[in-house]
Amino acid sequence: MTTGARARDESGWVDLGPVEELKRTPLRQVVLGRTRIALSWQDGRFGAVSGVCNHAGGPLGDGTLDGEYLVCPWHHYKYHRSTGEGEPGFEADRVPRHELREEGGRLLVNLTPATTRNKPPHERHPLERPVAREPGPVRLLGISTTAMDPAFPRYSTSDALLEIALAHGATLGAETKLLKANALRVRHCEGYYSKSAHACTWPCSITQMDPEDQMAEVYEALVFWADAVILSSPIRWGSASSLYFKLIERMNCIQNQVTIRDRVLIRNKAAAFIITGGQDNVQSVAGQMLMFFSELGFDFPQFPFIAHSRGWSAEDMEQNVAFVQQNAELHEGARALATRTVEKAAALVGAAAGAVRLPRGGRKAHRMGIVDLP
Ligand code: FES
Repeated sequence: MTTGARARDESGWVDLGPVEELKRTPLRQVVLGRTRIALSWQDGRFGAVSGVCNHAGGPLGDGTLDGEYLVCPWHHYKYHRSTGEGEPGFEADRVPRHELREEGGRLLVNLTPATTRNKPPHERHPLERPVAREPGPVRLLGISTTAMDPAFPRYSTSDALLEIALAHGATLGAETKLLKANALRVRHCEGYYSKSAHACTWPCSITQMDPEDQMAEVYEALVFWADAVILSSPIRWGSASSLYFKLIERMNCIQNQVTIRDRVLIRNKAAAFIITGGQDNVQSVAGQMLMFFSELGFDFPQFPFIAHSRGWSAEDMEQNVAFVQQNAELHEGARALATRTVEKAAALVGAAAGAVRLPRGGRKAHRMGIVDLP
């Protein structure tokens, strides 16, 4: 319910409309100029509190009612619908309350809040710290996205080439680390961005709410630790692996900081890819990876991926494993990719490019069409 500028008397009272009509909707977000109010009707009583959540500004009046509590539609914080206090145990986390009165069958609200907003300091998530490179040699991160069951290990062509690349990176003096997506308990992205650009937070909303979720290990390594990353994936029906997509969807919060805050978390880092497929579509998989990682802010070495596929008609899958196991050129290609990636990362670390402010990061050449928070 957006009402625009309504008549407001000197003590702040504004007419919201006929009481009987307003009783028909249990919860609504009322927008009165710059003021947002979550107006509720339940058990014969109206309630009015600020419609702006303390957490990230979610529209409380667009949420749901859980007994006497409003549930924020973005990340489900709860506030009492009449007092604005947080749920039991979090009462001090409070949004302002607004007074209501009925007059001649009409409901009026006072836009001047009767109580103040209170945001007690929350313990900061470790990922909220500023991004700063620790001194030391180039750090090369491998991310494996094969979906094989780790309980029954078998030869993975993409993993094998990644391990060769990392081992070679170590001989070049790089520190190396390998993260295997199939060994991490990572929840699917739940599409907070689809609710609002501001609902997709850094650190990821899921990471903040669920200490069991292990995507934090990927964020920690990718954003804070690594100077270079080599990601490997098999091809599945012409696309990267399902675990690849699971990880990159959760990386939306890294890219979204560029979109909504002009805050570039990935600076002066190199990315490269290893793609192996029983059949084809290497170019499409590589193109998607290059696009996404460029959007995160990565640079690329010259010739930033190696790939292998035996073609559309090669259904004799056993031969794929044997081919990759025995093909010295592929192994050499993995080592050469590691060399290019580490050298690119060393050049980026050595450059003073980090001091330069980007005019406006991201794929949009124009200003974003994002709804501002009140
Ligand atoms: S819970 Fe309300 S904005 Fe996150």
